[in-house]
Amino acid sequence: MENTVQLTDSASRDDFFDPNDVKASFDDIYRKEDPRAYFAVLGSLDYSIPDLARPIIRQIASARRRETGRAATMLDLGSSYGINAALFRHPVTFDMLRRRYARQEMMALGSADLRAFDRAYFQSWPRTRAERLIVADVSAPAVTYAVDAGLADEGVAFDFEAGAPTSELERSLAGVDIVFSTGCVGYVSERTFEAVLGCCARRKPWVVNFVLRMFDYAPIAGALARAGLVTEKLRSAVFVQRRFRDEAEAGQTMELLRKRELDPSGLEAEGLLYAELYVSRPEESVRAAPLEELVTVASGRNISFGPRFLAVQRDGRAELAPVRT
Ligand SMILES: C[S@@+](CC[C@H](N)C(=O)[O-])C[C@H]1O[C@@H](n2cnc3c(N)ncnc32)[C@H](O)[C@@H]1O
Repeated sequence: MENTVQLTDSASRDDFFDPNDVKASFDDIYRKEDPRAYFAVLGSLDYSIPDLARPIIRQIASARRRETGRAATMLDLGSSYGINAALFRHPVTFDMLRRRYARQEMMALGSADLRAFDRAYFQSWPRTRAERLIVADVSAPAVTYAVDAGLADEGVAFDFEAGAPTSELERSLAGVDIVFSTGCVGYVSERTFEAVLGCCARRKPWVVNFVLRMFDYAPIAGALARAGLVTEKLRSAVFVQRRFRDEAEAGQTMELLRKRELDPSGLEAEGLLYAELYVSRPEESVRAAPLEELVTVASGRNISFGPRFLAVQRDGRAELAPVRT
């Protein structure tokens, strides 16, 4: 299993500054009653990771379904307002949602009205995925919004870094088949994964994390190994997370990467933060299908804007529908 992650914690963590001090802080937009500020601020930095993660997370959910024979229960860790859930279930993009909230009519709404409209909006899309979704975040308002807007079947507002899960929480998470996250590692450490895996250990869930290159994943891979999971890193692709907020964030990130002996050229040196994909599964699943066989990264799919022919099943018949996207 050549892509598995080494568990030796490179002496990096204590030797120099904490990556969390380098990354810009957005705490104020995570705790509002609804996602308008989240989309405005992260949208202004071309936040891309939910869009890029979506096809991978869907492929992994399908692979898990092939293995178990049923649709997975999925836990989005550090879910914020349930954007990954929205993109997983519906044919919307981060930018479509950003533009929706940027309308004067939407800006004028109170939070309660906004979530009522959002619920109707998301309900108006056909449901094509049967997976059950649980959102978890330290921000109670964000979790409440995601559930109220109909994006998730259940919400968990809890800080696994700070305390042991209650027995009620353990029951909620006992049936989780896949734990996944974008933009969350760094805010959460191995403590969170130990606690979450403790709740759903009987299912041996697959764990799928998109992690900024500035963070050392070895401590989390170590915790997952103790829970019986082998971690692979996708070597063949990296994923844009967003633009740097300012010169200070760019400069300090580059310095941190160089200290970790990672080369930023062609990546962060061009002004963007990049994440890598780590997937942890039981050894038998990894042996049956290594990560490089499990996922396919289709590059440039959103670059072409000309007419396309969509393969659709209508009334049980396969058709090609010509559309302008
Ligand atoms: C960059 S946002 C990512 C949100 C979402 N996954 C996305 O990509 O759109 C990071 C999220 O981590 C959450 N977070 C921070 N500390 C956390 C903790 N200890 N446990 C769970 N979530 C936490 C924040 O509240 C925030 O919603």
